[in-house]
Amino acid sequence: MNIITSEKNFAEIETDVLIIPVLTDDTPDSSILAALNTATDGLVAAYFEEGEKQDNRFPSTLFFTGGSLAAKRLLLYGMGNRDLSFLCLQKAAGEAIRKLSPQPIKSAAFLLPDRLANPTSVQAIIEGAMLGAMRGNLYHTNGAGAVGIESLTIIGESQNAADFEPAIQHATINAEAANFARKLGFEPGNVMTPTRLAELAEEMCGREGLGFEALDEEVMKQMGMGAILGVSRGSEEPARLIVMKHEPEGANPSELIALVGKGITFDSGGISIKPGDHMEDMKYDMGGGAAVIGAMQIIAKRKPNARVLGIVAASENLPSGRAYKPGDVLRSLSGKTIEVINTDAEGRLVLADAITYAASQGATKIIDIATLTGAVVVALSDIRAGVMGTNQELIDELIQAGEETGELLWQLPFDKEYAAMLKSDIADIKNLGGKVAGSITGGMFLKPFADPIAWAHLDIGGTGYYEEEKPFMAKGATGFGARLLAHYVMKQAANSIKA
Ligand code: BES
Ligand code: MN
Ligand code: ZN
Repeated sequence: MNIITSEKNFAEIETDVLIIPVLTDDTPDSSILAALNTATDGLVAAYFEEGEKQDNRFPSTLFFTGGSLAAKRLLLYGMGNRDLSFLCLQKAAGEAIRKLSPQPIKSAAFLLPDRLANPTSVQAIIEGAMLGAMRGNLYHTNGAGAVGIESLTIIGESQNAADFEPAIQHATINAEAANFARKLGFEPGNVMTPTRLAELAEEMCGREGLGFEALDEEVMKQMGMGAILGVSRGSEEPARLIVMKHEPEGANPSELIALVGKGITFDSGGISIKPGDHMEDMKYDMGGGAAVIGAMQIIAKRKPNARVLGIVAASENLPSGRAYKPGDVLRSLSGKTIEVINTDAEGRLVLADAITYAASQGATKIIDIATLTGAVVVALSDIRAGVMGTNQELIDELIQAGEETGELLWQLPFDKEYAAMLKSDIADIKNLGGKVAGSITGGMFLKPFADPIAWAHLDIGGTGYYEEEKPFMAKGATGFGARLLAHYVMKQAANSIKA
């Protein structure tokens, strides 16, 4: 989707549809609406008279303008009362764009009311529109791809929309990266193998000027990455440890932020095989890895003055005659031994080696992101991701970054008592904590691999993909975390300049 600005008046803008948001306390006399009512010979008045409010929200109604405006159609979009937070604006814009989707609409114009005329709101609206436009029907022979809108023109109510160029550019970078991460997720498991994921990450790094490396199984074996290799054993597709680097000259050489993603390109559960119901959704089990790749793309474009390492632990998890089994003991890169209780708790195993690798590269902060547990869906649904870790400042900064990008987090408790649930009789640790507190014990498993480095863990089991379509977004991969992680890094870099 191409985003442009125009100084034209709302009546003069030639487009398939002009979108005008209506807030709950708007009246037909609010300035732009009054002018619009005159131009359209009373459409706005009719909308206010006839349109039933639901949940204190005006309806969203699509009109043909019949030549009264240069636009062919007019969408009066009921926004609600409101909450003009980043997430709400993003959702509203996504919903408005998706409402139009059965119509043969190629271009749209969005009128920015004065009270939304600030860079953050503009950014939220554009990101929402671009995320909302994406569809997951990659393999429909006819009509695959985005909701038809190719260009979106922003016009201001009284402010010149061109003033928002930087916000528009920022939003475009963010939404393109999140949609790239989503595309990696939508691709089926037979296409998006660890090898393919590494190839696409390499292409991105080449294009954007990031350092790239992918460790293959041979190298992993020499290094002693027995945890990820254990998970990968059952699969014909070789695992990869994908490594991306942003190392600007002049960045503080003694600090390195590592972003580590779970990249299970298909999780069958392995020998502890999952039930068939919804197993197909486990192609999304590389959502954390995709978020890291997306974040690195944003970082490459926005160039924060900080060293960043992006790591994706990519593997399949399948049963076979070679597959790892419950009861097996794996020796991880850290030297710690792991008793496998359940081969479906594979994410923490691949992350263990990836986190140790990040530490060996000199990481001073580690943030991992993973569709780690089904338990986090029970706790938080697809509304917020779980966050836990060993450094409260880091956790607070991540929560704040998520509020600002519309990717909400909720901190889970992390008392040391939970770690006791992972004691193994035979090895240093076991990969399953029991039936209770599954998200916390999942995170707790990772802690010894990150210690003593400041570390936080994001469990996106619920937010990494939508099981059902949302008004503002297609069902499937969400790209959750790509913008949040990049935004966190940008803020860190800005702070270190100030310090
Ligand atoms: N990838 C799954 C977690 C998951 C399940 C994410 C459903 C999103 C939706 C993970 O590898 C897994 O299988 N976790 C197990 C852990 C258990 C065996 C301790 C789970 O959550 O059931
Ligand atoms: Mn699993
Ligand atoms: Zn998994």
